[in-house]
Formats: sequence, C-alpha cells, structure tokens
Amino acid sequence: MSFSIIGTGSKAPSQVKTNDDLARIMDTSDEWIRSKTGIRERRILGEETITDLVVESSLLALEDAGVQPKELDLIICATVTPDYITPSMGCVLQRRIGAVCPAFDISAACAGFLYAWDIADGYFARKLDSKILVVGAEAVSKLVDWRDRTTAVIFGDGAGAVVLGRGNGLKAIRLNNRGDETALFARYQKGNCPIRRSQNGETAGHTTTPEADADTFLHMEGQKVFQFAVSSMCRDLKNIAKQAGMELEDVDYVLPHQANQRIIDYAISRLPLAPEKYLGNIAYRGNTSAAAIPVLLDEFRRKGQFRKGDILAFTSFGAGLTSAAAILEWDKEE
Ligand code: UT7
Repeated sequence: MSFSIIGTGSKAPSQVKTNDDLARIMDTSDEWIRSKTGIRERRILGEETITDLVVESSLLALEDAGVQPKELDLIICATVTPDYITPSMGCVLQRRIGAVCPAFDISAACAGFLYAWDIADGYFARKLDSKILVVGAEAVSKLVDWRDRTTAVIFGDGAGAVVLGRGNGLKAIRLNNRGDETALFARYQKGNCPIRRSQNGETAGHTTTPEADADTFLHMEGQKVFQFAVSSMCRDLKNIAKQAGMELEDVDYVLPHQANQRIIDYAISRLPLAPEKYLGNIAYRGNTSAAAIPVLLDEFRRKGQFRKGDILAFTSFGAGLTSAAAILEWDKEE
C-alpha cells in the first residue's frame, strides 16, 4: 500500500510568447523551432511570481481532493527556480495556504516531480494515513540567457500540483542519476566577498564582474542531453513496466517529460506502444522542467481523459543528469 492521486491542479503564467515573439529578440524562426522541437508557443511569468502560481495550483488540487490545507501532513516542492534561496518554496507555500505541516524543496531538475513522488512513497510506508501535497513548479525564464537561441527557445514557466492520499495507485517507481556537471547546468553567483584570501595569501577584491554574472545562466549541450533523454526514456519505460510486473503494452497512457517532441517521437519509434498513447502539450507549453508532468496530468485529467483502472506511465529526465519513471493506476472516481 502506498499512495493514490486524490486531487490535481495547475496554473499557467499570464504571458503567451510565440515563436515569432522570440524571433524578434534573437536569431531564430518559427519554422526552426517548430520543426526541431514541436513548440509553437510557451507561457512566461508576467507580473505574477512562481510562488503565486504554486499557491493557485495547490489550492486547485486541494479543492479537487476535498482536503483542507490544515489536514496536510507534508508538502514537497520540486523546483530549481524558487523565488527565494531560503526559505524554501515549500515553506512559503505552507504559510500562504495556511497549512501547518513540514515542508521542503528538492532539486532534481526536470525529473524532480517524480523524485518527490519517491520520497512521498517512503513517507506513506512509514505513516500510512497521510495527505501529501507534491508540487512541480519552474520559472525557467529567470534562468535562461535570452540571447542564447540554442537554449532559450525550448523553455517555458508553469506550476502543477497533486494531493496524494493513502491508496494502491502507485505500482512502481524508479530513480536514476548519471552525475554530469557540464551537459546542463546553472551556477550560483560567485559572490563578492572582499575579505576572502586568494591562494597566494593576498586579500581578494570584489570577485563579481558582469562576466561572472553572465556565467550564472543556464547552459545546455543540446545534443548530449538529447541523446541521454532518448536512451533513458526508452530504458526507464521498459524497466518500470517490468518492475510493476506488467508488459509495456498494458500501459494505457504515457505522460512523458515535455522537453522536445522529437525526443518523444524517437521513443514512439522504438517502443511497442501506439503513438496516441503518448500525451503531450509541448506545442503550447514548451518545456517547463519539473512542472511539465503535473501540468500535463492535470490538463488531460480535467479534459476527462482517464477512466478508473487506466494504467499511466510517467517518464522524465533532465539536469543531473537525472531520470525517473513511475507506473500508477488511475483510481480516482470522476
Ligand atoms: O528538459 C531538460 C532537458 N533538455 C532537453 O531534453 C533538450 C534536449 N536537446 C534538444 O532539444 C535539442 O538539442 C535542441 C532543440 C536544444 C537543439 O536542437 P539540435 O537539433 O540539437 O540543434 P543543434 O544544437 O545541433 O544546432 C543545429 C543548428 C546549428 O547551426 P549550424 O552550426 O548547423 O549552422 C545551430 O546554430 O541549428 C542552429 N540553431 C538554431 N537555429 C535557429 C540552434 N538553435 C537555433 C535556433 N534557431 N533556436
């Protein structure tokens, strides 16, 4: 016995940015972006903050679950772009919605939402009768260099949340990591401590320069990440079906990380599942990192896509390089 999903919610940022909008600020085109990624537009934060979206998506998920914030036992936020370094996004969310439970964030990039599910699974093993709010939220627009066409065009912002309750929904979950700090990374600022000693014993001056600040943008070796994405997605889906004691063909829907439509198309060509089983929204959401899966789940669920008993497979990958997969039976009465 682990958990079942008892509520979902998501909230998109207010600003729509089309490929033509991007072509006005960098050397790219709608044709290139659509053919190379499947993305037509993405949502970007306007006046609102990522915390605002997290609060709204969480309240929607709680309402859907019929759970009051004070009934929550734990809040886990998966994000690499919170509004504060400290306190965590989870702590700010806890206060804003009026919850009283422990709360924290995890950093596992795009795979973070499934990493959070694995933590929740352990929590349910220890304290069976719990209610856990799991959030995936990202403001990648804060992290990308908007002059760098090789990276900026694929990302968008967003937030999604689920409420988990005791149940038999989760059938299998598996996390992976292939440590790599060059393929996809963003650094903290180097700092400007004027009294730090250099190696030769001299007192260092201020170390922050415009170049050092620029170095804090997100860097991505697109091809390398692409190859990792395709191989990990195919491997993880096969492994997770096996771990759940089923055939991959038993899966009704795959909810893959929305990184690039071509990555999903590769998986479709290599795995024995019909293309219509792969759900997607990348065309109008872009790649929203840790938010991609909870947003996708909430959107399709609210469209009435899932029936009780449907088998859903989740797969994600990202900076780390992390990857994760899960199989869950949809057991919420609609
Ligand atoms: O969610 C986190 C995980 N991230 C991912 O999964 C991303 C995985 N990677 C990708 O999705 C792809 O690598 C990208 C979409 C980022 C790039 O596509 P690509 O097919 O790997 O392009 P590339 O970097 O190999 O570049 C091919 C050409 C280059 O021009 P030359 O050297 O052949 O003349 C680039 O300069 O395309 C050029 N290019 C662009 N042209 C117009 C790169 N970005 C753009 C652009 N617009 N935005």
